[in-house]
Amino acid sequence: MYYNESKTGFVEVICGPMYAGKTEELIRRTKRMEFAKKKYLIFKPNIDNRYAINEVVSHNKKSMKAINVDINHPEQILSYVTNDIQAIVIDEVQFFNVRLLDIIAKFANEGMRVICAGLDLDFRGEPFGLMPALLAIAENVTKLTAICNSCGEEATRTQRLVNGKPAYYDDPIVMVGATETYEARCRKCHEVLRREQ
Ligand code: ADP
Ligand code: TMP
Ligand code: MG
Ligand code: ZN
Repeated sequence: MYYNESKTGFVEVICGPMYAGKTEELIRRTKRMEFAKKKYLIFKPNIDNRYAINEVVSHNKKSMKAINVDINHPEQILSYVTNDIQAIVIDEVQFFNVRLLDIIAKFANEGMRVICAGLDLDFRGEPFGLMPALLAIAENVTKLTAICNSCGEEATRTQRLVNGKPAYYDDPIVMVGATETYEARCRKCHEVLRREQ
């Protein structure tokens, strides 16, 4: 049993397209826990090497130290969690193996606050990995929007561009990147090519 047997744990999810401010919001919530003197741990997937290996970093360069976890072995998280830890924070949660859901539920059941941030949709505009199930079990969901790079409206999707052209539907789902490969787009401006096109 973790830090407070009497307190109810809960799961919070911050989702939305790239550039929506998910990592900034995760950092904001985590910094507030410092003021509240809560003990927390931040985790991130080992495949996200965009800005730093051992930090979560937002696109506008806000950062906090984080522990790297193998996306195929989310159980690694368990070995870091001592019984004084009150909150677990996980960025880029969409990349992890679905077994992470059981681990998240276990922490919440034991009274911990679990804050996750991740993409609800992949570049095709389809639900990303474990996200639909995570959103369903969460007590609290925050869906953020970015600004569409094409028209300036609210962006809910992420556009992948390969040599300046929209990616194909059957391209690999996982491809780490930032502004060289991805834009935020609204539903109307979001494009996915099919091979027959
Ligand atoms: P996420 O983790 O959701 O990708 P971050 O928290 O890392 O987002 O970065 C959010 C920041 O990205 C914004 O505060 C802004 O400075 C920047 N940004 C870059 N492109 C856009 C865009 N198209 N719409 C909104 N913010 C953008
Ligand atoms: P971000 O949401 O913090 O901007 O980071 C999203 C990461 O996910 C970024 O490295 C690009 C990657 N990504 C994929 O691997 N596949 C996708 O379909 C999309 C949209 C993003
Ligand atoms: Mg992010
Ligand atoms: Zn648009």
